[in-house]
Amino acid sequence: MFRKFTKRLIDGKSTTVENHTPSETVIDTISSEEPASGLDLEQFMVADHRHCDELWAMVEAAVEAQDGIGVAVQVFTEDFERHLQREEEVIFPAFEDATGMHGVGPTMMMRHEHEQMRAVIAVMLQAHRAGDDQQLLSQGDTLLMLTQQHNMKEEQILYPMANQAIGGQWPELQERM
Ligand SMILES: [Fe+2]
Repeated sequence: MFRKFTKRLIDGKSTTVENHTPSETVIDTISSEEPASGLDLEQFMVADHRHCDELWAMVEAAVEAQDGIGVAVQVFTEDFERHLQREEEVIFPAFEDATGMHGVGPTMMMRHEHEQMRAVIAVMLQAHRAGDDQQLLSQGDTLLMLTQQHNMKEEQILYPMANQAIGGQWPELQERM
């Protein structure tokens, strides 16, 4: 995790982190890495859910410590959005093509729920920019409730179906993520 933060600091991708290096104590509370290769579609996407959960825990830890909040929020929101895009741009279209379920079925519902999550994240970012940590955490609780239910549907229903329908294409799909 620390390497990942350091890399982002060095890459200079961030505007919020330049003046603030989070303490190692905050970073040490989370050991969160990108899902490893060698996983199948279902395992990889479940691991990506856990990765996002851990990044949210890191935001909570940063608020608690009043240290590194900007970096934690940025890494969380970036990786969370990337997870949504992995589904919307790669997994869902392949699944819809393979099953013929365009505009209907589980991916339709999941896309709708992603929009609900993005709306909460937008409010969360507003609160963060205003320096309102309590509102940030409270929006985080709302997001957590949405994601827990959403992730359960994906992990118990959609990912196993996708693994069956498009598991054979996984190596090429993973390349595109
Ligand atoms: Fe999703």
